[in-house]
This record gives sequence, structure tokens and C-alpha cells, in this order.
Amino acid sequence: MSQNQILKNTNAQLLDEFNASVMFDKELYSQDIQGSIAHSKMLCLQNIINIEDQEKIEQGLLKVRKEIEDGTFEWKIEYEDIHMAVENRLTQIIGDAGGRLHTARSRNDQVATDFTLYVQDKSIVIKEKLKTLVETFVNIASNHTTTLIPGMTHLQHAQPINFGFHMLAYANMFQRDYERFESSYARNNKCPLGSAALAGTPHNIDRFKTAELLGFDEPTACALDTSSNRDFALEILFNISTSMMHISRISEELILWSSYEFGFVKMSDEYATTSSIMPQKKNPDVPELLRGKTGRCFGNLISLLTVMKGLPLAYNKDTQEDKEGVFDSVKTIEISIDILDAVMNTLIINVDTMEKACKVGHLSATDLADYLVQKADMPFRTAYYITKDVVALANKLNKDMSELTIQELRTANEEVANIDEEIISYLDLRNSMNARTSFGSTSTEQTKEQIEAFRAWLQ
Ligand code: ARG
Repeated sequence: MSQNQILKNTNAQLLDEFNASVMFDKELYSQDIQGSIAHSKMLCLQNIINIEDQEKIEQGLLKVRKEIEDGTFEWKIEYEDIHMAVENRLTQIIGDAGGRLHTARSRNDQVATDFTLYVQDKSIVIKEKLKTLVETFVNIASNHTTTLIPGMTHLQHAQPINFGFHMLAYANMFQRDYERFESSYARNNKCPLGSAALAGTPHNIDRFKTAELLGFDEPTACALDTSSNRDFALEILFNISTSMMHISRISEELILWSSYEFGFVKMSDEYATTSSIMPQKKNPDVPELLRGKTGRCFGNLISLLTVMKGLPLAYNKDTQEDKEGVFDSVKTIEISIDILDAVMNTLIINVDTMEKACKVGHLSATDLADYLVQKADMPFRTAYYITKDVVALANKLNKDMSELTIQELRTANEEVANIDEEIISYLDLRNSMNARTSFGSTSTEQTKEQIEAFRAWLQ
């Protein structure tokens, strides 16, 4: 071979490698075959191909599927993508009939269909996992409706809440995530196939039939839009990102809570790792990884948004860059939900440490202010300044406000010199938590009602 020839071959190979997507879009083999079978059935019903050819095509495609699943299928980069790879192999197996399959479609509507089917399939899987996660948080909540934990804002002790209520905050997040996947599914359940390259087809196809055969509600409405629409992929990337953000937030709390300084929880030995150098350590690697993996999911979303932002209508090869990020985000969230679920189910909750922590930071201070407003008809701002004096007194006595005696409290400020003794029970931490009975609040009674609502939803 001449030097020139070698160079030409290398360049061709380089181009093939650059252009091809088959090494990653083979992930879509099942949807590709499913889409092609439906397409062939529709072509046959419309008398565009005959029944003999349709049967050959269908049997051939099932054979290709089996080869792929058995691992005997030969993946070659020169097939370019999964669509060409399947069609080529089909034609090798069944001969000329294979060449009829691509009538009235193009790879543009084909890839949009395969990818939509994939996103829809995965949305259901992820949705169900999220439901399991909601149930896990609700189960933990139902065991801890009376366990006190300092409720925080700015990571500072604020008001006493119960740990079940804290768990329900996450149940709410994951429930919203579930609903987000559900609504995206409903919005995107439309079939691109038959849009062809960009403008539709002169063949007498029945796109409603294809849609029905593939489990879609209807065909997409505009061929030009369809051939380069990737909103459905962006939606799943956004939905995954939001769920991962929630997973990252609980992970962050688990990391904090399992530190020496908090000591609220202990991760089961199965999910805590040791240090290679410090034998005494137990590290929260698992929640750290969950928090860390959130980054790649956000990245995948931004990446596809960026790919899409400058594309003129209709299909452009840029969109081939849509798949790897989605595959990655899907895999990441699937494992992340499973792992978080396992961590939560095996979490050791140190009730005593949580309750002890409530006695730091005068968590019932707001209760004194609220009491003065309600019982003494004081403007809230005045009550606020009086409460400040009581806090100062408690600090001076080295006590939490909930531990003050009535005699001590009455010395804080002349406005409270004659305050009724009943105030002491208002400052009790558990009473403070239970006083919050408005809809959606933390009292044990309210928390139990919220748990009931979740149970009904989970049914
Ligand atoms: N592999 C391509 C992709 O993923 C399939 C569509 C190719 N269409 C085309 N006209 N080159 O986007």
C-alpha cells in the first residue's frame, strides 16, 4: 500500500469512528426493533407491503433481537448506527424483503421514535422507584412522629419538630418528582414515526395505527417539528436532575447527621466505608457519592440544552449527541434511588441525641412570643423584644429556655413579672412541637394525618 493509500484508509476509519453512534445507540436496539415491527404491520395493513414480506420482516427482526440478546450479533462501526445495523442484518437474513422496511420513514423519525420509546419506558421505571422511596420515607416517618429533632433554618436551631415530619418533607419532594415523570410521560406520549425526513411522505400510511401499535396516544402533529424535537429528552433530564437534587439534599443531611458533631444517625456498616489510612474512621462515602453524582446529571441537562439551542429546522446531526447523556442520567438515577432507599431502610436513628440537641438554642422562644400575643394581646414586635430578654436571662443562667422555672422567668423583664405559671408548659419542647396544628404543620397529630394522606396516595 502506498503512503497515500494508508493515509486515506486511516482518514476513512477516523471519519467512521467520528460519525458512528452504533457503539452507544445500540442501547436502543429493543425500541428500534419494536418500532420497525409496528411500522411493517402498518405498511402491510395499508397494502404498501404484502403479508409475506411483513411476516419475513417480523420474523427476521425477532431473530436479530435474539442475536443481540445472545451476544452473537456482530457490532461493526461501519453500520454507523443502530438503525442501519439492524436493517443490514435483517436484509442479510431475509433478503430483498428487508429492503422494503424503510418505505415511508427515515432515520430521522426512526431515531426520534426509538428515543421517545426509551424515555417513556425509563420514565415508568424511575417513577415506580420513586414511589418505593416515598414509601420508605413515610414508613420511617410513621415510627418517629413523637421523636423530637431541632428544626433548622440557616442550619441554626429554630423550632422543635418531630423527625417524622422531617422525613415527610422528603416524601413530598419525591412525590412531586413522581408526578413530574408522570406528567412528562403524558405530554410526550406521541409517535414520531411516519414524519419521515422532515415533511411527511406521499405513501398512504396510517400514522394513527403506528401510534396505537406502539402504545402511544396519537401521532405527533407536525413532521417538521418532530424530526428534530428533543423536548422529551430534555424533560427526562430535567426530571432526573430535580430528583437528584432532592437525593443530594437528603445525602447532605445524612453526612451532617452522621458526623460526630451531630450524631443524629448512624449509617449501617454495609453502607459506610472505612479509611485506608485511619482504621478508626467510618466514612459516609455513599451519600457523598449520591451528592457528587448529581453533578453529572445537571451537566447532561445543560449539555443537551446547549446542543439544541442553535439548530435550524429540521434534523441536524448535532442531535446524535442527545443520547449518551440521557443513558448516563437514567443509569445514575436508577442506582441512586436504589442505594438511597437501602441506606434509609438500614439507617440507625439516635433518638436520644436528637432530643438532647433540642435543648440547645431556645427552640421554644417563638412559643413565648406567640403566647404573649395570644394571651396578653401584645403586638408581636413587643413580644419579640420581651422574649429576647428571656433568652438573655436563660443564657446567663446557662439554661435552655425550656428549662427555666416560673420564678426565674418572671425576673427577665417587668412585662413578664406576673406572667401566668401556665407559660412553663408552653415552653416545653414537646408541647411546642405539638402546638403547631395548622394544616401541614409539625404536631404529631398533623404529621399522622399527613402520613395517612400518603398511605392513601401510595395505594
Ligand atoms: N444516528 C443518528 C442519530 O442518532 C440517526 C439519524 C441519522 N439521520 C441522518 N439523516 N443522518 O441522530
